[in-house]
Amino acid sequence: MSNILEVRDLCVSYGGINAVKGISFDVPEGEIVTLIGANGAGKSSTLRAICGLVKPASGSIKIRAGHSGMLSDSHRKAVDSSLEEVAGMRTEDIVSKGITMVPEGRRVFSDLTVLENLRIGAYLRKDSLDDDINWCYDLFPRLKERSWQLAGTLSGGEQQMLAIARALMSRPEIIMMDEPSLGLAPIVVKDVFDIIHEINRQGKTILLVEQNANMALRAAHHGYVMEVGNITLSGTGMDLAENEQVKAAYLGKSKK
Ligand SMILES: Nc1ncnc2c1ncn2[C@@H]1O[C@H](COP(=O)(O)OP(=O)(O)OP(=O)(O)O)[C@@H](O)[C@H]1O
Ligand SMILES: [Mg+2]
Repeated sequence: MSNILEVRDLCVSYGGINAVKGISFDVPEGEIVTLIGANGAGKSSTLRAICGLVKPASGSIKIRAGHSGMLSDSHRKAVDSSLEEVAGMRTEDIVSKGITMVPEGRRVFSDLTVLENLRIGAYLRKDSLDDDINWCYDLFPRLKERSWQLAGTLSGGEQQMLAIARALMSRPEIIMMDEPSLGLAPIVVKDVFDIIHEINRQGKTILLVEQNANMALRAAHHGYVMEVGNITLSGTGMDLAENEQVKAAYLGKSKK
């Protein structure tokens, strides 16, 4: 499986604070990759750097621009190897290459309806949105029922679903999610992970940052553990979930 995203020696600094200290990782196309780590490890800073919301201090971020649905197999092979450097580009230029982020804390537009929020997710596109809106409503029937409801009056779980659906409206190949399960009841967390699996099953690549290390590692093909700006461990999601160091640091005692 070829990589759709490659990060090399990425550093992010805020003033004098080095939040990300030269990390490297790969995201293979079609996989779920997770970054886990304690508060302040630099997970959100990494995602923000990838989509251009903060400028990296140094390092390389390469993505393969997404045209997968529109290319023949032979043409696709030809472009497969071409990863494009996006470090330092503007967010809208990066998003137009097929990557998007569901930010931490959901951030839906409270005073707009569900449908208006979805339309805003596609603001960079000029084509018809009907198919995508229908696709989102198939994935999230509760949003369909609530199409005209103001987003601010949705429950926390529904707002998270809307934030994910809004990100899908830009037709991304890669979706980055920053702690999508944060603050949600366990049963709703399960819904969020079910939807992550379904989106992945439909061919989207997912880079997931999670506090819920146990669920994230079990959902992911590959995982990376971040500690104070560095990646200290990596492996398959299952291997990391069974790793004694990871269990002790991130999975509490619940695995006994
Ligand atoms: N805008 C900012 N200005 C200054 N420092 C920042 C800024 N954003 C993040 N930091 C610092 O960078 C470090 C990494 O923060 P980051 O938000 O990337 O961590 P995180 O792994 O996402 O943590 P959490 O799990 O709490 O969300 C922290 O020390 C944080 O205080
Ligand atoms: Mg964070």
